[in-house]
Amino acid sequence: MHVDSSDSLQLHKVVVVGHVDHGKSTLLGRILLECGRVPEDRIAHVQKICSDKSLQFEPAFLFDALQEEQEQGISIDTTRVNFEFEGHKFILIDAPGHLEFLKNMTSGASEADLGILVVDCNQGVRSQTERHLKILNMLGVRRVIVALNKVDQINYDQTIFEEVCAKTREIIEQQEIICEQIVPISALAGENITNATSKLEWYVGKPLLGTLTDVAQKLNNIKKDDQPFRMLLQDVYRFEGDRLFAGRIVSGSIKKGSEIFFSPSGKISRVESIEKYLETDVQSAKSGESIALRLTEQVFVERGEVISLLDNAPEVDTEFRGKLAWLSAHSYSPETEYMLKMGTTEVPCRVEVIDAATQQKQLASAENLINGGFADVIIKTSKPIAFDRAATGAIVEKFVVCTAYDTAAAGVVDNRPVRVERSLKVNPNLRHELGYVERARYEGLNKHRGSVLWMTGLSGSGKSSLAKELEKALFEKNCRVVVLDGDNLRFGLCADLGFTPEDRSENIRRIAHTAKLFLDTGYIVVTACISPYARDRELAREIIGAQDFNELFVFCPLEECQRRDPKGLYSKASAGQISAVTGFDSPYQAPQRPAVRLDSSKMTVAQEVQAVIELLSHHEVLPLEKALTNDLPEVINASGLRSLQAIND
Ligand code: ADX
Repeated sequence: MHVDSSDSLQLHKVVVVGHVDHGKSTLLGRILLECGRVPEDRIAHVQKICSDKSLQFEPAFLFDALQEEQEQGISIDTTRVNFEFEGHKFILIDAPGHLEFLKNMTSGASEADLGILVVDCNQGVRSQTERHLKILNMLGVRRVIVALNKVDQINYDQTIFEEVCAKTREIIEQQEIICEQIVPISALAGENITNATSKLEWYVGKPLLGTLTDVAQKLNNIKKDDQPFRMLLQDVYRFEGDRLFAGRIVSGSIKKGSEIFFSPSGKISRVESIEKYLETDVQSAKSGESIALRLTEQVFVERGEVISLLDNAPEVDTEFRGKLAWLSAHSYSPETEYMLKMGTTEVPCRVEVIDAATQQKQLASAENLINGGFADVIIKTSKPIAFDRAATGAIVEKFVVCTAYDTAAAGVVDNRPVRVERSLKVNPNLRHELGYVERARYEGLNKHRGSVLWMTGLSGSGKSSLAKELEKALFEKNCRVVVLDGDNLRFGLCADLGFTPEDRSENIRRIAHTAKLFLDTGYIVVTACISPYARDRELAREIIGAQDFNELFVFCPLEECQRRDPKGLYSKASAGQISAVTGFDSPYQAPQRPAVRLDSSKMTVAQEVQAVIELLSHHEVLPLEKALTNDLPEVINASGLRSLQAIND
């Protein structure tokens, strides 16, 4: 089908689902007839076939004829209907009820973010409707318009319409999809499709295509303003001294000069120029475009990374929750090696299934992952990967699970986290006892303010060496300084903890509270632990207090840490002797806006120390010229009120 309109019209892709008997083909045929600019001879051809077979002409026949025509083309797995309406250009993608087509659609670009669900108002929602909604969800379609069809067969009765509406809304919302509008229509009679009908006087909304235009326009506006920039790195091309980072933008936009962030590697750079095919002096690029970036500062990264802006990066982890449809005729087998493909990344993965009733994890098996089945799952990858959750508005969220021969499953990242946060509720019978001396008085004595320098970075990035040098430099300035080194604390205070995500969180929580105790007595606290999870560092910031928490990112590329390998950790990990090594097979969530970023592959330790001392001076931690007045320190008694002065009186 050819649409000969100008390219300047806004293009919207809409997925159409619905039970076969509910009138999907009739609706698509009707839309083709009313707006699709079907050539007269094509209509005449279909009419002739109808009359030859003594059949009455129906719009569905027109759609079926189009479908046949498209199927004769090469490898088309969905039928598409193009049409224009009120200055908008639409492609309706006819999604079949079976899951096969998910294979292509899930791994490709986000095709559509709006769906039309066709429901027969005589029959209401059917089990297949729920299946269709699950498919929509997996395609990233989180909003639908319902076309409640065959309203002529219920005599345009408002009460029946409302009853079906209520049930339809309920089932849609169960799938976490927003029901934008329910439009009563008769596809066969052509009622309330393009024009309103007097038979539906009680209906206050616009006809179907008017509603479609409004909602599509609304979504386009949201998209333009809100979607974070995501570019999937496909390749790095090297020419004499020059490197071009090529890939496709899947959401948002980028400008020349923007600061960019690579995930999962945590590397940063700035866009020097944007290259587009046959264009010069490109200032910006947006979603859907394939581009190449030239960067001001070289980074060494490979295909599979996700490029974002510095402030809004995707998540990095080795596990995530997802919704998955099993597409292969071969059920899940624990012996088979599966690969996860998401964006341009490919990593080995394992699947765990979450039981719908108990919400407990189970190992995936041939029983719970079978052809055509849907499941809530946890995907675990052998290396850190970057992805988005729907709530962020970004769209590196669709994936497929493959074997060497077959696409086994397609899915989408779930909004929910893998782990339930540990509750840290304080017993109501506890009371916070204030100390004898206030922090400010210790600071007066020390002649500097207290502060926490919270280092984070991969093992081997140089945290401990920097901590030691900082201790030396600050001590020489007569500061009270203490180093809390991750390795050392794991000998005692944290000796019971390992390297699971839960244990690492607990490790950070304990270190943060310890740092806080020192801070309250005016110390400059230097912590040197990997602290790989952004959420744990946020918790540390909360415990310590944002004004005293300085995040120092001791950055070093993983390749360089592996080369240094001071503790032999990475070589053991490569040899398979240990697992859950940060950056290797356990995630490192690089900070995007640390107080200071110290690149230990480019800076000397002395330069790093200098940068941190400057930070402390900038925050007026150092030096405190004037000691605080040496009045009698306050004593806070049990009621927390009286001072020593008062006692003396
Ligand atoms: S954190 O992740 O909980 O912050 P922490 O800094 O305390 O880690 O401990 C990291 C140190 O433990 C490393 O420097 C290394 O010497 C040692 N270690 C042992 N096993 C691992 C592992 N699987 N991943 C990271 N570090 C490990």
